Amino acid sequence: MQRVLVTGCNGFVGSHMCERLIREGYAVTGLDIAPYGWEDGFVKTVGGGNFEYLEGDITGERFAAEAVERAMPHIIIHLASVVGVNLYIKDPLKVIDVNILGLRNLVRALKGSGARIIFSSTSEIYGKNPTLPWKEDADRVLGHTPVHRWAYSTSKAAAEHMLWASAAAYGLEAVVLRYFNLYGPRQLPHLLVPAQIKRALQGEELLVYDGGRQTRCFTYIEDAVSGTLAAAISPLAPGEAFNIGSTVETGVEEMTLLIGSLAGLSFNIRKVSTAEIYGNVYEDIPRRVPDAGKAAGILGWRAGTPLREGLLKTIEWWKGQVGGKELKPD
Ligand SMILES: NC(=O)c1ccc[n+]([C@@H]2O[C@H](COP(=O)([O-])OP(=O)(O)OC[C@H]3O[C@@H](n4cnc5c(N)ncnc54)[C@H](O)[C@@H]3O)[C@@H](O)[C@H]2O)c1
Repeated sequence: MQRVLVTGCNGFVGSHMCERLIREGYAVTGLDIAPYGWEDGFVKTVGGGNFEYLEGDITGERFAAEAVERAMPHIIIHLASVVGVNLYIKDPLKVIDVNILGLRNLVRALKGSGARIIFSSTSEIYGKNPTLPWKEDADRVLGHTPVHRWAYSTSKAAAEHMLWASAAAYGLEAVVLRYFNLYGPRQLPHLLVPAQIKRALQGEELLVYDGGRQTRCFTYIEDAVSGTLAAAISPLAPGEAFNIGSTVETGVEEMTLLIGSLAGLSFNIRKVSTAEIYGNVYEDIPRRVPDAGKAAGILGWRAGTPLREGLLKTIEWWKGQVGGKELKPD
């Protein structure tokens, strides 16, 4: 039986990933710094013979080494990170520490094991490169370092460099996945899609930031999990970076209006400015579009879930959360 260690297992991607791996018959060890505390969250719904949960902080060298020693993984799916623009701005040092020290501790612990490590990187890597769609070898175009939002992109990129170097030095199989705007059930409401859904279901105004003309390629979680699994098992994946994203570009205002209408309640829109909320430590990216041809060609993967279908599933899940239980604060 193949053993998989999933870091950040209590997170949005991690919880879905663990569920899929368990269903597919892998022996899974999940680690996370803390449980989310959702009423029907991952820790309470998944478990059993082929799953073990380890609680700890991967920026601690000893914890990371012990986790690897205990899990003895053939594959590591490394998802632990600090995620969300509000958090990059609030605590950039934590973002950098988790992205860089976390990976450093894991690769050192894996040295000589020959394991495959899948590193969850991000579309933010490409920054504000205006030449779209972005192939995996596109240039990284980033802003000034006092703008904290770039700390996430830069530390993920530094971690990618560390990964390639560690693969060569420590005899590991490395794969980089750059996710594009994932959404789906269990994503915390400081992220754009769940924030709007939660507001819609609670009868609050929907917020449209900076005019709403920015575009994103929203990618449903189950598609991302399938792409990650393909990268974990394909013999052709090691040594490669892949964009994991839908190629359907949608305006942020358009997505917001769609959520409002799918939620089935009357709603109002309020335009807000990120400059007023975040000041000069934030800069928005006008368009973000992947070229997903490499993942299709090598992994046989494509994001197949239409936005409307993925949003409906996500709204249904949120209805269960909003219906009576206390929600985790934004
Ligand atoms: N969700 C997206 O749209 C998206 C887009 C691009 C990249 N990614 C990447 O995918 C990965 C998963 O993202 P997500 O959306 O599931 O985020 P998430 O915040 O839901 O999950 C991250 C998990 O990592 C855990 N964690 C944080 N610091 C830790 C530490 N020091 N030690 C152990 N665990 C720690 C958190 O507790 C959390 O459960 C991240 O690496 C993220 O950068 C996500």
